[in-house]
Amino acid sequence: MPESIIIDTDPGIDDFMAILFALKSPELDVLALTTVFGNHFVEITTRNALRLLEHAGRDDIPVARGAYSPLVREFRDPPTVVHGQDGLGDAGLSEEPDSTIAHTRAAQFIVEAVMSRPGEITLVPLGPLTNIAMALKLEPRIVKATKRVVLMGGAAFAQGNVSPVAEANIWHDPEAAALVFGADWAVTMVGLDVTMPVIMDTQYIAELAASKTPYAEMIARIVPHYQAFHTAAYQTNGALHTHDPTAIAYLIRPDLFKTISRRVRVNTQGYGTGQTIVDGAGIWYDGVETTICVDVDAQGVLDLYKARITR
Ligand code: BDR
Ligand code: CA
Repeated sequence: MPESIIIDTDPGIDDFMAILFALKSPELDVLALTTVFGNHFVEITTRNALRLLEHAGRDDIPVARGAYSPLVREFRDPPTVVHGQDGLGDAGLSEEPDSTIAHTRAAQFIVEAVMSRPGEITLVPLGPLTNIAMALKLEPRIVKATKRVVLMGGAAFAQGNVSPVAEANIWHDPEAAALVFGADWAVTMVGLDVTMPVIMDTQYIAELAASKTPYAEMIARIVPHYQAFHTAAYQTNGALHTHDPTAIAYLIRPDLFKTISRRVRVNTQGYGTGQTIVDGAGIWYDGVETTICVDVDAQGVLDLYKARITR
């Protein structure tokens, strides 16, 4: 039986790459996409989600639009330097969609879906955790009714990518992240410790493109902007870190990852805002433990991704 998942997402170049990966993986049944601000305003990320599904020939999958802004903060400046003016690398893939959203309240949509199938649905957040936190507030029983949460976000022992300690998805809405990590459900954190080491270099990207499958061709169109950002920011010479697709890889092949179980708290103030503080020494005695990915077979993830996208 494939695992039924709802992907909460802010497409976003790597979100786009991750969703295509999930759609190509028989281990996963993508029930819906729910959208959130993050890589762009939510109007744009929602448009991109709809377009993605149309391009992928999967507009049977519903899209629910979610939060415009964090729980208690403002969202003003989308990171267009990372993902482009249109959030998809300005590659002509983000025209107005023909399809429309199924729901305008992603949090409510998540609650209804999870409560209708208790114990069966996995939530896969690939953006700020605002929708998930709002769903928790709307209906606390989703804590018990959700199968598990596998999220891309945080940094356990690695450095941050938007501050010395914070990863972008957590940093965008740290109060929401604190609620999600604090709830008594099974959370797996696929953070920078394992997404930064999975590196798609120019040869790998060229091999993907050469396969000329429809999904690979879309990826080849959107990644140049992301490559340019990585080269400017990290001197990678065209290579890119593989964030959101690595969370999908964890769902399919957890054996490619080393995990530990520790308590995680989210810093919501000062210079450390957005930091996921991991209690490596076991000093905090209360609260739930999170499964944290701390090491990865990077080549294994890359091989898996290529095999699925080029099939
Ligand atoms: C995360 O931030 C976003 O830019 C990416 O889509 C990914 O979800 C990486 O820190
Ligand atoms: Ca994302």
